[in-house]
Amino acid sequence: MSKTADVVIIGAGAAGLMCAATAGYQGKSVLLLDHSNKPAKKVLMSGGGRCNFTNLNTTPANFLSANPHFCISALKRYTPQDFLELVERHGIDYVEKAPGQLFCANTSKDIQQLLLTEADWAGVDLQMNTSIEKVSTTADRVQLTTSLGKIDAGALVVATGGLSIPTLGATGFGYDLAQQLGLEVLPTQAGLVPFTLHPELKAQLAPLSGLSCDVSVSCNGQTFTEPMLITHRGLSGPAMLQISSYWQAGDELSINWLPQFNLKTTLAKLRQEQPRTHFSSWLAEQLPKRLATVLVSLLKEQGILLPERNADASNNQLEALAYALENWTFKPAGTEGYRTAEVTLGGINTQQISSQTFAVKNLEQVRFIGEVLDVTGQLGGYNFQWAWASAVACARSL
Ligand code: FDA
Repeated sequence: MSKTADVVIIGAGAAGLMCAATAGYQGKSVLLLDHSNKPAKKVLMSGGGRCNFTNLNTTPANFLSANPHFCISALKRYTPQDFLELVERHGIDYVEKAPGQLFCANTSKDIQQLLLTEADWAGVDLQMNTSIEKVSTTADRVQLTTSLGKIDAGALVVATGGLSIPTLGATGFGYDLAQQLGLEVLPTQAGLVPFTLHPELKAQLAPLSGLSCDVSVSCNGQTFTEPMLITHRGLSGPAMLQISSYWQAGDELSINWLPQFNLKTTLAKLRQEQPRTHFSSWLAEQLPKRLATVLVSLLKEQGILLPERNADASNNQLEALAYALENWTFKPAGTEGYRTAEVTLGGINTQQISSQTFAVKNLEQVRFIGEVLDVTGQLGGYNFQWAWASAVACARSL
């Protein structure tokens, strides 16, 4: 069988479906191909099953990229408000869980259904279970050899995403094709991913598995104040996922266990007002009790000994204790990698892509959108906003 289409899109995930629907509404014949058995699997899994589909406070500063200006134009042309209008038009209930972070009130299926309905209304020909064997280009067209047969198209949009979670259909297809076309692919790394710990610390924290507390965590000049979750494998929760995108193997993380306090002042006040009590009792009032106990023994290992009574603490001891609680540093063993990472850092170097059309410079008929590019959002709905914005910018210029 041989087919022709104005546009072929590879990858029926967030960006691919959005691009297909937008191009279809513009009167283009669109063929959307995916090797997986179901479209938008990551949408279904996202946001703990309730898809954090955008963030009202999205700015270019929420993205990591070697070329930080690249995302500005697309984000400006398709805003979180634009996607929200689409969500409202489909009658989907949503909630703002944290400031700006919009989630489905019911399930992620609502967003998957929105995308499929839009693609259907726009006349998109969606073909799942389709493998792409070969891509070649002529002066102004693209030829594909696929399990559906040969396809000739006026444009190819690659929306195959990153490497995160292979069991959801992730592959390096987009990177391989980019390299085949002579584009540079910047080194990739798992992002928004839990940390694993060295055996000793892992054993010390293991009894606290399931426990969550608000911390500030810092690395390489970035700080996030959000909940941290101790798991049986290591450290997770929003604080750890966020900082993982700024962490390189071998880096230390620094945790402030009590970011809501100026500890030097608070501990000095405590010494004055409760001279007969012990700092560890106060600590156990501020943090989960079991965590406070483990923390006191971790501090001891660092040579921070708490005096019997607050009154006995010298100024130097107070300062050392405050510093240790605000700057508790450790080296993670690593991360859980692509098996559980929400995103892939790095990817196709955007210097070679037009920020207006997402076409490859000097190869107009081939375009790349979404996560396959070297643009990665922080946690909080930014990655989907990038998928929507890059898809719409690309489709409108087809
Ligand atoms: P996406 O990965 O969505 O789609 C790629 C598509 O290409 C897939 O359908 C895949 O099957 C297909 N494909 C891959 N290789 C192929 C090949 N060789 N041939 C044919 N097809 C191929 N973001 C956010 O903003 N809010 C959130 O709540 C979450 N939550 C979340 C949870 C989890 C568990 C994960 C893993 C990720 C998130 N994310 C998120 C991130 C978000 O899901 C991600 O950034 C977007 O889905 C990226 O959209 P893309 O369309 O670029 O790729």
